[in-house]
Amino acid sequence: MSTFGTIFRVTTYGESHCASVGAIIDGCPPGLPLEAKDVQTQLSRRRPGQSNLTTPRDEKDLVHLQSGIEHGITLGTPIGLLVKNEDQRPRDYTETDLYPRPSHADWTYLEKYGVKASSGGGRSSARETIGRVAAGAIAEKYLKTVYGIEIVAFVSSVGRIHLPSFASPPKSLNEDEDAVEDILSAEFVELLQNISREDVDKQPTRCPHTETAERMTKRIIRAKEAQDSIGGTITCVIRNVPSGLGEPVFDKLEAKLAHAMLSIPATKGFEIGSGFRGTEVPGSKHNDAFVRKEDGSLGTRTNWSGGIQGGISNGENIYFRVGFKSPATISQAQQTAQYDGTPGTLAARGRHDPCVVPRAVPIVEAMASLVIMDQVLIQNARKTAASLLPPITTLPPTMVKPPTKN
Ligand SMILES: Cc1cc2nc3c(=O)[nH]c(=O)nc-3n(C[C@H](O)[C@H](O)[C@H](O)COP(=O)(O)O)c2cc1C
Repeated sequence: MSTFGTIFRVTTYGESHCASVGAIIDGCPPGLPLEAKDVQTQLSRRRPGQSNLTTPRDEKDLVHLQSGIEHGITLGTPIGLLVKNEDQRPRDYTETDLYPRPSHADWTYLEKYGVKASSGGGRSSARETIGRVAAGAIAEKYLKTVYGIEIVAFVSSVGRIHLPSFASPPKSLNEDEDAVEDILSAEFVELLQNISREDVDKQPTRCPHTETAERMTKRIIRAKEAQDSIGGTITCVIRNVPSGLGEPVFDKLEAKLAHAMLSIPATKGFEIGSGFRGTEVPGSKHNDAFVRKEDGSLGTRTNWSGGIQGGISNGENIYFRVGFKSPATISQAQQTAQYDGTPGTLAARGRHDPCVVPRAVPIVEAMASLVIMDQVLIQNARKTAASLLPPITTLPPTMVKPPTKN
């Protein structure tokens, strides 16, 4: 459906060529200082036409705050956010009246609803993600203000061009030997610790490694010139997350993140921490040993778990990677079939992204914010309810959390 979240509930509305797109956010705590520019910054990072690597559709994507805020403070009542669709060109899509676009959502929407929007991707268009990005910016403002949480996503691959991240297995390694190298390189772990959005935005591809970013740019332009498209991956890190977030067993934190990420259009994969690569190393290399941190709290020496164990955040950085397919709409002629099954050739007109990952970076950050915000509110409700009970004195000490040693 169109609503996401349990306490911080976001409902998005809108199609690619309707009057406006936006969101209603219910459950935002009252008293949060909030201005349009808090939301606009992320919307402007998502908007089309930012460089020659994205669709030329010309949308300013200016947000209009409709409700729930007065004198720059949230009221605790539903917040309405609206962004006008200004550069609609429904005529671009006349071929798709006859042809469902291969690997787009035209055919499945029609199968499901029996009717579909007259042009463009309708509800399946990435225009829908405007509501998510706007809502995510509000969640993020709360998380930053209260916990100092930082969420940064960046492009980690385009086609076969990858940001150097994985330690390369020794050349001599055969399938019966246990890898001795770290799963991710030390440089990549450091990048996760320090990377900022300013670093990410230095390159139009949003890959923070200059040499790799330049190769990615060429790869995207090559796809565009061939009237084709190309996919990629985005890595996201969430820092300063309190421990204890996530609801076992079905609403584990990584399951919530996976749900959120795989709800973004064009996503094809999700992996957390060491991910699929982690399956290649034995437990003795993969385990995150515990260590007392400078502030006396318990932490882990490595973080192959990606900051989540048993579905619950452990206070380390959460990091994950999301795979995006090569966009379906291409101008190159494709042999396919019309809605009635007649074989034919489709060369789609219209304005399209040759690669979605540079623009999807703020969408990944927004969905991460929405998940963490909701889980914070759920955990705080539990903690507040528990704090009203008399202190526990009757249980053996091994059953309760020991005090922190400084
Ligand atoms: C930021 C962003 C921009 C996108 N731009 C396009 C586009 O220009 N052309 C296209 O065919 N798909 C584009 N997509 C993907 C489609 O919306 C998506 O592939 C389609 O709805 C089918 O859904 P699915 O790929 O998740 O199955 C974009 C996705 C994102 C996240």
